[in-house]
Amino acid sequence: MGLLTANLACTTCEQQFSTLDVGGAQVPVINGDATFSRQLAQLGEQLFADPQQLRAWLEGDDPLQRAMAGGLVTYAQAHYGQFAEPPLPSADLGWLRGWLPRNLPDGDIALLGCGTGGELLAIEADLPDNRSVWLADANLAALAWGKMLAIQGLIPLPYRESATRLGWSTAQIPQSCQHVLSRAHWLCCDALRPPWPAASLAAVITVGLIDSVADPIALIQQVEALLAPGGVWLLATPWNWQEAVTPQNRQLERFVDGSDLDDGVAKLLTGCMIPGLGAELRIDRRELGVTWRLPVHGRMTVEYLLDVLLLRKID
Ligand SMILES: C[S@@+](CC[C@H](N)C(=O)[O-])C[C@H]1O[C@@H](n2cnc3c(N)ncnc32)[C@H](O)[C@@H]1O
Repeated sequence: MGLLTANLACTTCEQQFSTLDVGGAQVPVINGDATFSRQLAQLGEQLFADPQQLRAWLEGDDPLQRAMAGGLVTYAQAHYGQFAEPPLPSADLGWLRGWLPRNLPDGDIALLGCGTGGELLAIEADLPDNRSVWLADANLAALAWGKMLAIQGLIPLPYRESATRLGWSTAQIPQSCQHVLSRAHWLCCDALRPPWPAASLAAVITVGLIDSVADPIALIQQVEALLAPGGVWLLATPWNWQEAVTPQNRQLERFVDGSDLDDGVAKLLTGCMIPGLGAELRIDRRELGVTWRLPVHGRMTVEYLLDVLLLRKID
């Protein structure tokens, strides 16, 4: 597996950004400033040159390495554990099917915070044929692992055997899945500083992202701006706020005064609570309590109850 970093320049603003060469394909790394992007790309290169470092990264002191390794291990198994031999428990993302509507405006489709990219397999049947699809995540290790699987079809799969043990299996995906994953553009970027032009996306899909960012209000603003008129945001979240990730004063539910939390959150997302925020978004469909099981390690699986919303930007 050939992996090396290089620099590319944006064709519009000429800003330099790094890329990670994953099996001959360039994954752009435009997460933060040029220095941080370069650092991420170099870390990605190191990890894939010697995957056995993964355990040291998981258990080491470096918070960036821990986060990259943790996301890779969690979502490699969650998204592709069923393709291991013998199969490992995985997160069934089948509930994503049937949410993406047929009537979409022109524009690309972006899955933000996609981890290793397996969500695409779940929604693939609902995607219009003629659209560019972006798989984007801030975690280059998870993203590059998914891209490598898309290219090679068979790669080593790390998973947590127990709370203390890292195991290795092999993921082998069918050619049909490889074809779907290969169709996407894989991109390491920060969803709070997205690289697409305003009003250019027909659909944005975020599963478990809004409560994983430091500033969920900024995420709402960005998604609202990115969507073309009539475009949709498929937002799925357990609203599982963690102070280490999202400061209390940014945890959206804390803005809701009334007793009905779900109604309050809906108002907040659609411009009825914070002036201007979500003012162009309307709820087309919503389901509360959708089950999402995420394997944590061999003896632990967490069950989340998701709030799934289809928001549409007014035309
Ligand atoms: C809870 S995980 C969900 C992964 C995947 N969507 C799923 O449902 O299986 C959240 C993902 O969001 C990514 N993430 C967190 N903050 C981000 C940001 N600012 N920009 C892009 N991705 C981010 C993490 O790296 C992680 O992969």
